[in-house]
Parts: sequence; structure tokens; C-alpha cells
Amino acid sequence: MPSFEDAKKEFRAALAGAQDAPALEAVRIAFLGRKGRLGALMAEVAAQPEAERAAAGRAANEAKAEMERAFAAARAALDERESAAREEREWIDVTEPGQWPAAGHLHPVSAAIAEITDIFSTVGFTRVRAPEIDWDWYAFEALNMPKDHPARDDWETFFVAETRTQSAQGAKGKVVLTPHTTNVQVRALEKGVLPLRLININRVYRRQSDVTHTPMFHQFEGLMVDKNLTIGDLKGVLEHFVRAYFGPARAARLRPHHFRFTEPSFEIDISCDLCGGRGGSCRVCKSGWLELGGAGMVHPNVLKSGGVDPDVYTGFAFGWGVERTLTMRQGMAIDDIRILYRDDLRFVEQF
Ligand code: PHE
Repeated sequence: MPSFEDAKKEFRAALAGAQDAPALEAVRIAFLGRKGRLGALMAEVAAQPEAERAAAGRAANEAKAEMERAFAAARAALDERESAAREEREWIDVTEPGQWPAAGHLHPVSAAIAEITDIFSTVGFTRVRAPEIDWDWYAFEALNMPKDHPARDDWETFFVAETRTQSAQGAKGKVVLTPHTTNVQVRALEKGVLPLRLININRVYRRQSDVTHTPMFHQFEGLMVDKNLTIGDLKGVLEHFVRAYFGPARAARLRPHHFRFTEPSFEIDISCDLCGGRGGSCRVCKSGWLELGGAGMVHPNVLKSGGVDPDVYTGFAFGWGVERTLTMRQGMAIDDIRILYRDDLRFVEQF
């Protein structure tokens, strides 16, 4: 009689020792596979003497059925263990609050541009955009700065290799990264629609880099052209801005200055927020005042460049740095303007 009992016992022991699917499969092949232990016993049944063959056959079928059940049970138990382990690993608490992706916000300079635009819009100035890279004509020559005039020295910056030195209106000279937003003036005047009141905010470029200068920065340029405008109108608009942006505690002053494209010309200073206007050893202002930018009554030659009769119209203009304006705001305490462009998130995320 083939030893079915031994085979079953060994099979159960082997199943109990199989800890994972490959081990279980190896046990199945060794016992229940085509060349396995059970097959060999079945072959022995056929070799039994006639009288014992029927009983051996029954014993064989029972052993086979029992081993298959044992195997199915072992596989079910293993599946159960594996899925329990997976649930443990991959469990998520659906009641936990979700994690929101970090929301971005405007860079402080972009936010300042939006705010400045708003403040001027309340007194009727519409935002326009003159090119950031423009012909010499609009950046200099039409602004009463003839070629080779020494006044250009501070302003000539980065010329661009551009072969189109002509526009539809004629020769315009070389192409330059604009050093100021004043290029908007003649571009706006030559459209021929008066009166006008606009604000141009754009990037500009200079050969300067220190605690109060970056080689690339932004300016906002206001231009108003109408009949009978005076310096009083200019002062009124600037005071509106200073009050709205800096609050009533800060003082502004006009200082006589010289620009080729305005006459008379001024520089506008605001009392320094960092030292409270005391100056002395202040790293930023040294004098208690900080220059925000220039202003003046539009020079008659500029009006003429734009095809406007200076005997009929007058205008005023002003051009200030956005970054300078922003850093002078109360409480900003920025003692090096270059931090605005250092891409340091620890700085930017404070706003
Ligand atoms: N363009 C001058 C500057 O960049 C500022 C200015 C603009 C002065 C308009 C007068 C009128 O310094």
C-alpha cells in the first residue's frame, strides 16, 4: 500500500513552512505537480495486486482531495495575510484634512505696479505701455537730446543689434534698451489725440548696481497734456500719489533739477522711512531724503517732436522708480534694493 499518510503529513508540514507565494507554489509543484509526490504514489496504485487496487485507489483519491483542500486553504490564508499587510501599508485616513498645493502670490514689485496703476487711475490716468526696447529717437533724440549731447552720458546703456533703423515714420536711429519710460511721451503725442492723461509702467535699464540701484528696474511715467496746465497741476497730482501711497506722515519736496525734456524740471524727494528723515549714518539716504524721481513741465521741443503746438498746449510729466517707491514705503525697512531680485523665497514669501 503506497504511503499516503506520510505524504499528507509532509505536505502539511511543507505548507506550514511556506511563507510567501513563490514558496507555496514550489510546494504545490513538489507534491501536486505532474512529476510530484502524489503522481508517483498514483503510479504505485496501478502496480498493486488486483485485490488491493480498489482500496488503494480510493485511498489515493481521498488523499488527493484532501491535499488539494489543504493547499486551497493555505493559499487563502496567504492571500489574507498579504492583503492585510497591504492595507496596513497603504491605509489612508480619508477624514484627514487635505494638503493644499502652495498658492503663489504676486511679487512685491508686481503688486506695487498694480497699486500705483490704481492710484493714478482715480485721477484719470490710463495705463499704456511703450516698448521696453526702443529706437534712439523715442528714447533720446525726440526728447531734446541730440546725438552726441553730453546729457546722454548717464542714459546710454545697452544698444541692441537690430538692423531696422527705420519706422514707418522715417529714420529712428539705433535700438536701445530704454533707460527710462520717457520714451512713451512722443509715442503718445504723435497719435494726435489730445488732451491726454496716461501712465506708462515698464522695465528700464541703467549701468548701476548698488544698495539703491539695480541694473534693471521699473519706472512709472505720468504724462498729462492739455491747455493751460501749470506746475500747480503737477504738484497736485504728485501730492495725491504721495498721500495715497505713503500715507499722511511722510513729507515730499520738489527740488529744482535739470532734464533735457522738461522745463522747468524738478526732482521729487520723500522723507526716508528707514531713518525717519534724520539722515546722518542712514545706509540708504544719508540726508534724510530719498530721491524718488524726476518731474517737470514738458519741454516745447518735445511737444514739437510729437507734432503738438507748444503755443496751444502745455503738459507735465514725471518718472519715478517703482522699486525705490516700494522700498521707501513705511515699514518696508529694505536696506538693499537688490534683494528684490535675488530670488530668495525667504524674502518674497513675507509679502
Ligand atoms: N526720465 C527721467 C529719469 O529717468 C525722469 C523724468 C520723467 C523726469 C519725466 C522728468 C519728466 O530720471
